[in-house]
Amino acid sequence: MSIHGFSFPTPIQFGAGARRRVADHLRSQGLKRPLIVTDKALAALPVLAEFRTHLEGLDVAVFSGVHGNPTCSQVMDGAVAFKAHGADCVIGFGGGAALDVSKLVGVAATHEGDILEYVWDHPQVRAITQPLPYFVALPTTSGTGSEVGRSSVVSENDTHLKRVVFSPRILARCVFADPELTLGLPAHVTAATGMDALTHNIESYLSPAYHPLCDGIALEGTRIAAAALLTAVKEPGNLQARSDMMMASMMGAIAFQKDLGAVHSCAHALGAVCDLHHGLANALMIDTVLAWNHEAAQAKFEELAHVCGVPGGGKAFVPWLIELKHRVGITGRLKDHGVTAAHLPRLVEIATADICHQTNPRPCTAADFQKLFEAAL
Ligand SMILES: [Fe+2]
Repeated sequence: MSIHGFSFPTPIQFGAGARRRVADHLRSQGLKRPLIVTDKALAALPVLAEFRTHLEGLDVAVFSGVHGNPTCSQVMDGAVAFKAHGADCVIGFGGGAALDVSKLVGVAATHEGDILEYVWDHPQVRAITQPLPYFVALPTTSGTGSEVGRSSVVSENDTHLKRVVFSPRILARCVFADPELTLGLPAHVTAATGMDALTHNIESYLSPAYHPLCDGIALEGTRIAAAALLTAVKEPGNLQARSDMMMASMMGAIAFQKDLGAVHSCAHALGAVCDLHHGLANALMIDTVLAWNHEAAQAKFEELAHVCGVPGGGKAFVPWLIELKHRVGITGRLKDHGVTAAHLPRLVEIATADICHQTNPRPCTAADFQKLFEAAL
């Protein structure tokens, strides 16, 4: 028998109105000068102004330089803003991109060199050695679950290649998960991010790695997302559905510390080559990849069908998933979203090099990725 390490470390304040607790929490830590790190689009919306009203008494500055796929230079700009404000803590406020940048602003503000030198596979990777500024996270989408993750994905400025900083040190010290922050999301964003959350739960459950704790979370996360996603899309103001999706999103990200699979390798390639939204890319690939995976994990497909209330057992799970996709408004094939046959060689190359499929239930070679992309085209 081997010895396994399990860790579920993030304190979470979950529920409608949780954002109102941030100020007292920071004060209880002796903190007075937060820097809010958020994205450009969000900074212009009332949701940020409303959040700031709950930070009265604190000396708040905002860095809203996150846009598109986050880059290293956005992190470095955030660090400049942190120092210019004389900030003593960071509040990450936004979707996956803003939260990923916010996780690294404190690193860049207290450490030498460019943030790119801290990515895990840098040939002379620098260690995070200094104490980091206190960091809290507030998600405003329900998809990536980045608020509970210990990695941050930032792209190189010029090549746009995605690089990952991975360290338990960058975990939020407290997450304030407030589903009211997602009430204003448009239907297509709810659908795409929700499919990302569902994919995290499903893929981590299907991974053969030994992690029964995550398996339990992933199955329950799948059940919650499957029951709530359509309602969250169709009834944007439904707080219970929004709450369920935010919980399923966090559960997916907690579960995928176990691992992900080949759907995410395809999605990472589609993001890099065709700039497809990550959740949409997962949604466009998941049925094709899971249909191919079925023979390698039949008992787990039975469980997935069971928790999702799918009549007909494991074989009916993928058809059910396809119908769910259509009902939440995600239609078309890859080619309907700008992907062409000319993209295939690069897509196959990047997906094959991606680490996620190493824990796919069925080993996935370059030839397999070629077939999967062709089938989804
Ligand atoms: Fe994802």
